[in-house]
Amino acid sequence: MKRALIFLALASLSWGSAMAFADDRRDAILADLAAQAVAADPAFTAFSADRGKAFFLATPSSGKPDTPSCTTCHTKDPKAKGQTRAGKEILPMAVSKTPDRFTDAEKVAKWFLRNCSSVLGRECTAAEKGDFITNMAAQ
Ligand code: HEC
Repeated sequence: MKRALIFLALASLSWGSAMAFADDRRDAILADLAAQAVAADPAFTAFSADRGKAFFLATPSSGKPDTPSCTTCHTKDPKAKGQTRAGKEILPMAVSKTPDRFTDAEKVAKWFLRNCSSVLGRECTAAEKGDFITNMAAQ
């Protein structure tokens, strides 16, 4: 066990390995969401980057008036920096620009809950979350 930890510590010193671990953590979050999506709908097959893109750009009109869309804060370009309502900078959502995006399960759950409530007036479904991450991971 100790030896495994030392190995992990050494391996994570290399940038390439650190990124591989980030991808593993994101994949684990997606696998968990896929299991939830199947539980909610047995006909679910796979997440879709296209659906994720449409979801990201949509203006559902069911949330708070000052946050009509995910793009209100994250902008329409996932590779660009966004801004909170208070003007604080948000790093790009695109994984190519911010490689540690969607790698901390607690952070992911916290912000989906908060932002889906603001924009949609409800929680996002597991399928919506998985589509969203799949789209951001593809760019
Ligand atoms: C009111 C501004 C605002 C809106 C609207 C908004 N977000 Fe965000 N979002 C943030 C902030 C602030 C963070 C946390 C800072 C960061 O991660 O850089 C964040 C982080 C996230 C994260 C966590 C990212 C990670 O690295 O794990 C997810 C997931 C997310 N947002 C999804 C969404 C989705 C989906 C929508 C639309 C339904 C949305 N956001 C709309 C402000 C917003």
